Amino acid sequence: MSDEKKKLTTASGRPYAENENSMTAGPRGPVLLQDVFLHEKMAHFNRERIPERVVHAKGSGAYGTFTVTHDITQFTKAKLFSEVGKETKVFLRFSTVGGEKGSADTERDPRGFALKFYTEDGNWDLVGNNTPIFFIKDPKKFPDFIHTQKRDPRTNCKSATMMWDFWSLNPESLHQIMFLFSDRGTPYSYRHMHGFGSHTFSLINSQHERVYVKFHFKTLQKIKNFTNAEAGRMKGMDADWAQRDLVESIDAGDFPKWAMKIQVMTEEQTRTFRWNPFDLTKVWPQGEFPLIDVGTLELNKIPNNFFADVEQAAFAPSHVVDGIGYSPDKMLQGRLLAYPDAHRYRLGANFEQLPVNRCPYATNNYQRDGQMRLDGNGGDAPNYFPNSFDDIEVDHSYKEPALQLDSLTADWYDRNGEHENDHYTQPGVLFRQVFTDEERTTQVNNLLASLTAVNGPKREVILNRQLCHFFRADPELGARIAEGLGIEIDASMFAHH
Ligand code: HEM
Repeated sequence: MSDEKKKLTTASGRPYAENENSMTAGPRGPVLLQDVFLHEKMAHFNRERIPERVVHAKGSGAYGTFTVTHDITQFTKAKLFSEVGKETKVFLRFSTVGGEKGSADTERDPRGFALKFYTEDGNWDLVGNNTPIFFIKDPKKFPDFIHTQKRDPRTNCKSATMMWDFWSLNPESLHQIMFLFSDRGTPYSYRHMHGFGSHTFSLINSQHERVYVKFHFKTLQKIKNFTNAEAGRMKGMDADWAQRDLVESIDAGDFPKWAMKIQVMTEEQTRTFRWNPFDLTKVWPQGEFPLIDVGTLELNKIPNNFFADVEQAAFAPSHVVDGIGYSPDKMLQGRLLAYPDAHRYRLGANFEQLPVNRCPYATNNYQRDGQMRLDGNGGDAPNYFPNSFDDIEVDHSYKEPALQLDSLTADWYDRNGEHENDHYTQPGVLFRQVFTDEERTTQVNNLLASLTAVNGPKREVILNRQLCHFFRADPELGARIAEGLGIEIDASMFAHH
């Protein structure tokens, strides 16, 4: 080992002669244009920020391991599930949704749960949330929905009026609203919440048979939530509470773990299920589609550099691997397009080459050039297909079984049309049968804390419209919200019917 220190250099390798004083004409300046060290230092600094994610901008990430504990090869040939005991390296990024990159970790919001499995058949991204459902069921609604979750264009503040206007006009949101305004809308930390793939995906086995599937990750740290008041206080005390909690627990060797489970539906069952099995606003009741054990996810390493691995991480629901497929879920279909498109904008066309995103196994293709090409660009190998020189082939055995569709008629179908308009049964069950007395009261109070902030000339219209949805889910819920808002129930009913 030599004692020699490394020299400070420019990005091109020229050693600095001076790094604390600019070159000036005389001790009092002006500064000389030829101090290129100064230019480079300032110019690079000016370019440090990349666009933050349009949603899920505030997040935390860690590496870990997924280990298979139960055999599910009857359902899938995906290599990562091929045998009990098999381990796959993963990267998980947690996030809030609506806030900016510096916003508080304890906002009432869903939490992102984005998981990248580095498998030998390519990277599999399961880009889910801590909820099994979502606010909307058609991707065309996503930009409008998110606008209402972000800042008002004039006041530049978050607006309960925008949010409840949107939600009351889109009753399919009720189920997710019920989740969001329970204390699960303010998890204590990322370690103490479940994760869900949320969408319906498909699994394909070695016999070329397809089933449909939902993915669940149950926290082994147990669910723990903040109350509305605690979450509010924590925003002021430590905006980065969840980030700090994750780093401190992993650095202390207390590795958080989740049990991965699946629910399975046969193609036949999808045709007879009483709700649309591909509707993201619905769950598959666990009494009918029981959880099947699969494996354990453990997080055990905080990346050394947040920007390199967490900020530059690019997840995409389109990244599946052999044995795992998509489904007709409209939201999933929309997301197949949205994520790689977002990455090309946020990180550039070669985002897959960044270390956190790069497949550690083989990638071979004829994509060439583009900004920030870092991988040698294919060298002198042929850049077209087919050719007579290389040994890259298309393996048709990866083809999925053909998919029988329900209809050959293209149209703009009403997302909430006949057979698609039960927005109330599952939220009602959640309120009456899943929540305890205490949780029902918490829910009502959390809802009232937000609903009372609705203001402006449309206040009454918005509140009455939303009240109808609460009543239809559960009369007690409706009555308690109406009472809390000081709304005469009979009068509002007259206004609507
Ligand atoms: C059609 C509906 C949706 C659209 C168009 C959409 C779009 C986006 C976009 C553009 C990003 C930013 C990506 C980036 O810059 O890296 C993002 C992030 C994210 N979305 Fe969605 N999203 C949708 C629905 C959902 C749903 C239903 C879930 C969960 C079930 C979800 C979970 C996430 C997560 C976890 C992230 C953050 C990923 C990360 O940690 O980098 N999104 N979404």
